[in-house]
Parts: sequence; C-alpha cells; structure tokens
Amino acid sequence: MKRIIFLFSFILGFLNAIEVITPIPLNVNIDVKKADLGKELFFDVRLSKDDTISCHSCHLLNQGGVDNKKLSVGVEGKLSIINTPTVFNSSFSFTQFWNGRSKTLHEQVFGPISDPNEMAMSFEELEIKLRKTDYLKKFFSIYKDGITINNIADAIVEYEKTLITPNSPFDKYLRGDETAISDKAKRGYQIFKEQGCIACHHGRNVGGNLYAKFGVVSEVETKSKGRFEVTKNEEDLYYFKVPSLRNIELTYPYLHDGRFETLEDTVKFMANYQLGKSLNKEQISDIISFLVSLTGELYNYEQKKQ
Ligand code: HEC
Ligand code: HEC
Repeated sequence: MKRIIFLFSFILGFLNAIEVITPIPLNVNIDVKKADLGKELFFDVRLSKDDTISCHSCHLLNQGGVDNKKLSVGVEGKLSIINTPTVFNSSFSFTQFWNGRSKTLHEQVFGPISDPNEMAMSFEELEIKLRKTDYLKKFFSIYKDGITINNIADAIVEYEKTLITPNSPFDKYLRGDETAISDKAKRGYQIFKEQGCIACHHGRNVGGNLYAKFGVVSEVETKSKGRFEVTKNEEDLYYFKVPSLRNIELTYPYLHDGRFETLEDTVKFMANYQLGKSLNKEQISDIISFLVSLTGELYNYEQKKQ
C-alpha cells in the first residue's frame, strides 16, 4: 500500500515538474505575397455590406487582437452575440470560435463575412464587388482563378498565421532566462499549476486545445449554449473552448459574455467556479503577475521581405 501511495505521489510530482506550457515559435513560414494581400483584406472595410466594417474593426492589433468591448459592433450598429476573442495566436488553437464550429482558420473566415451582425456580405456579392477593384490584378498575380471566396480566405489565413506574439517574458523564462520574470510571477506559475488551472489552460496558447463546461444556466448572460449548438448533444450544453491566456492583460473584458472587466474578478471566479477553491488575495495577485508575463510582442513578418 505504502509503495502504491509513493508511486502515486511520485507521478503527481512528475506531472507538476514537466512544463506543459510551450513557447510561441519565434518565426513562422509564410508566403509573404499572400500575407500582404491578406493584410490588405484584413483592414479593408469593403469586405462589409456598407463599407464600414473590417476584420480590424473588432480585432485591433494594438489592443491584443480584440476591441475591449463586451459585445462588438458590426454593420448598421448591430451587436455581435458573444464576446470577441483575440485573433492573435489563433493558428495554434485546435478549433475556432467559442463553440468550436470551425475546424480550421480557413473555414472560420466565412463566418464574420456572412454574419448579418458583422459584415453581412454574401460570398457572391463580395466576389463581384472586389472584382471591380484593383484587387483583381493582385489576385491574378497569385491565384490562377483570381478572386474567389476561397482565395480571399486563403490570403487572410496566410496573414493570420503572422499574427503571433512570441518573446513574452514567460516564454523567455521557459527558454532558460531565469531573470525574465519576477519571483512573484514564478510563485504565480507554481500556484497556477498546483491549484489545477493548468488542467485546462495549457499548451502553446495556455488554452485553446479542449472544451470545458461553463455556466449555470441562470448565470450565463448570453443566449449561447456553447458546444451544444454544434453537436446537439445534451452533454455538451455550456461547454466552451478553453480560451488562450496569452496577452490576457490586454483582452478584457473577460469570459464569453464579457462580464468581468478585471483579471482579479476573473481569476477569483475561475478558482471558485472551475476548481471549487477560494484563493487568498496574495495568491490571486501572484497568479495575475504570472498571467501578465504572458504578454508577447507582435511578430513582424515584413522583416522577411528585407
Ligand atoms: C463585428 C465584429 C467582428 C468582425 C468584423 C470580425 N470578427 Fe472575428 N470574431 C468576432 C466574434 C464576436 C467572434 C466570436 C464568435 C463566436 O465564437 O461565436 C470572432 C471570432 C474570430 C476568430 C476565432 C478566434 C477563436 O479563438 O475562436 C477568428 C480567427 C476571427 N474572428 C477572425 C476574423 C477575421 C479574419 C475577420 C474578417 C474577415 C473577422 N474576424 C471579423 C467579431 C468580429
Ligand atoms: C475546467 C477547466 C478550467 C479550469 C480548471 C480553469 N479554467 Fe479558466 N477558463 C475555462 C473556460 C471554459 C473559460 C471560458 C469560460 C467562458 O467564457 O464561458 C475560461 C476562462 C478563463 C479566463 C478568461 C479568458 C478570456 O479570454 O476571457 C481566465 C483569465 C482564466 N480562465 C483563468 C483561469 C485561472 C487563473 C484558473 C485557475 C485558478 C482557471 N482559469 C482554471 C476553463 C478552465
């Protein structure tokens, strides 16, 4: 019996000792010409029905890839139905959207373009509209079949692959620089592991690779039913993709309904709700120091041109 207990604690200790968070790569392989075209499209309001909204209206690059609003504003002032997640590092997540309805980034692009609350364009309309612009030449210089909705998505995805945030202090620490983060952040990381946050928030994105249950019905402020919307399986009610915690200090407000403005409230809630634990003020503030060390630098793919 003793031996079994010993073995068990040995395994637990081992799990705690290995790093289950891995750094964002310092470089990505991309087709620069496609990424340039994708960048232009990402910032172009002509992708929307009334020429008012671009991808960048809701995913601002200088605001952590979000707009810091509870709900985002699309065409004609319409509100999106769920809080906008970041575009940063989304190429590393296992599925896209809170309920994971798109398996790939390519499939994801079709969502906002046609969503009546976001850009409200039919794909055919968009192809016809863009064929009348100087995009025509640009597309033909890359794609044999010119402007098609698939090629539009392909170019945008190539640009999205560049929207990664390497070199956060925590990644430098993972790569061996002991001084890259403070002792407080190191303590926070220990607590994050010991308390079990790591069970859901791990991997390259410190999230983004599994679904977890969230929300007592009365607590959920949006109408969203999570993963259930995709599978229609009762067991998936209120399961959401565990969000990435990279750049989390910048991507407030938090949770799929944007209910919390501060990391303090969110971390407290997570500990209570997901783990049934109440953490003291100091533990929470240590965890936040760790979370803040996950803020990286926006990768500059344009240096590849030189
Ligand atoms: C009106 C605001 C708005 C616009 C415009 C918009 N998005 Fe989004 N984006 C959202 C919202 C809201 C979600 C989450 C929707 C959901 O999960 O159901 C989202 C989700 C995403 C995701 C998935 C992220 C994740 O972690 O699941 C990506 C990637 C993304 N958008 C990229 C784009 C691109 C590319 C465009 C332009 C073609 C675009 N968005 C236009 C609001 C917007
Ligand atoms: C059982 C899995 C699970 C555990 C354990 C867990 N989380 Fe979460 N976390 C989630 C899910 C799911 C969400 C998204 C919930 C939603 O918005 O519906 C989330 C959201 C968050 C957010 C907000 C992210 C955003 O972009 O809005 C933060 C911050 C966070 N968690 C931190 C923590 C911390 C700190 C711990 C440990 C005290 C923890 N989590 C434990 C699953 C988990």
